[in-house]
Amino acid sequence: MPAVLELRNVSKHFPGHTAVDQVSFEAPRGELFSLLGPSGCGKTTTLRLIAGFESPTTGEIFLNGEPVQTLPPYRRNVSTVFQNYALFPHLTVRANIEFGLRRGKVPPDLAARVAQVIELVRLSGKESRYPHQMSGGEKQRAALARSLVLAPGVLLLDEPLSALDPNLRKQVRAELQQLQRRVGITFLFVTHDQEEALSVSDRIAVMNSGRIEQIGSPRELYLQPRTRFVASFLGEVNWIDGFGVRPESIRVSRHRPEGSLPTREATILRANFLGNRIQLETRSASGDPVIAEVPRLDAAFSSGDPVHLWWRPSDELRFAE
Ligand SMILES: Nc1ncnc2c1ncn2[C@@H]1O[C@H](COP(=O)(O)OP(=O)(O)OP(=O)(O)O)[C@@H](O)[C@H]1O
Ligand SMILES: [Mg+2]
Repeated sequence: MPAVLELRNVSKHFPGHTAVDQVSFEAPRGELFSLLGPSGCGKTTTLRLIAGFESPTTGEIFLNGEPVQTLPPYRRNVSTVFQNYALFPHLTVRANIEFGLRRGKVPPDLAARVAQVIELVRLSGKESRYPHQMSGGEKQRAALARSLVLAPGVLLLDEPLSALDPNLRKQVRAELQQLQRRVGITFLFVTHDQEEALSVSDRIAVMNSGRIEQIGSPRELYLQPRTRFVASFLGEVNWIDGFGVRPESIRVSRHRPEGSLPTREATILRANFLGNRIQLETRSASGDPVIAEVPRLDAAFSSGDPVHLWWRPSDELRFAE
C-alpha cells in the first residue's frame, strides 16, 4: 500500500534563499508525524508545498501514490489547521465548522457529519457560541473540527498549540493525540517545541536550515541522535572532551567510583532545586561546564564541593559526523 503522504527530494528556492532543501519522507496511514526544528528551518514552507499554496522548485509530492503538483489546493485531499486558527469571528461554532462543506457541492449528510465532529472534539452544547465566547482551548478544538469535517487524507497542523498558555497547551496536546488515534487520519504536525514533539509523535523529522537531519521515533532520536544538532535540539547535552552525555546519565559522588568507568573531577557551582530532582551545575577540572540531574535524595551537595562525575560508556552519544 502506498504511503498516504510522500515527499521525494523536495526543494524550494526563494530568491537568494533555499527554504527547503532536498526533503524526503513518507508517512503511512494513521501516523502522527512531526516536523521539528528551530524558527526559519522550513517547516511552514514544507506544509505550504504539501497543501499546494507553493510549488516545489524541484522534487515530487505524492498523496496516496498520486503526484499532486498539478492539482490545485482544493483538489488535494489535505486540510490545514493554521497557527492562529483563523475562525470567522462573525460565525458560530457550527457555521465555522460547516463553512468548508458549504463551499462546494453541499453533501446530503452535512448535519450528521457536523454533529459527529462536534461530539468528537467535545463541543456539544457550544454549537451556537461565537469565537469570542470561547476559551483558547475550545477555539482550538473548533478549528480542528472545521478541518476534520472535510475528512482529509492528511491533516496539516502548523504550530496549532502555540497560542495557548503552557498548562492548556499540555492538555490540548494530549487531547489532540487521543483524537488522532480515534480518527486514524495521518497528521503532519509542525512544532519548534521539542517536548511537544516528543510527547505526541509516532515519528519526528528534525529539520535544520531546510534539511532533514534525522527521522525516527522520539526514543530513537533522544537516545541515538545521529548529529550534534539533533542531540542538542532534543533535550540537554553536555559536551565533555567532545563526547555528548545527557545530564540524567551523569552520576555525582564524593569519592572516585570503583572500576574503570569514565570519570572526571569537578567542582559544584550551584545546586538547583527542581522539585522531583536536583540539577547540579558543575565545572570539570578541564574547564567544561557539566550539568548533572540527580534524584533529590542523592544530592547533599553545595557550591564549592569537589566531586567526581562518572557515567556508563553506553550512555555516551556517538555521532557519524
Ligand atoms: N515567500 C517567501 N519568500 C522568501 N523567503 C521566504 C518566503 N517564505 C519563507 N521564506 C524564508 O524561508 C525560510 C523558512 O521559512 P518557514 O516559514 O518555512 O520557517 P519555519 O520553520 O516555519 O519557522 P517558524 O518556526 O518561525 O514558523 C525563512 O528563512 C523564511 O524567511
Ligand atoms: Mg512556521
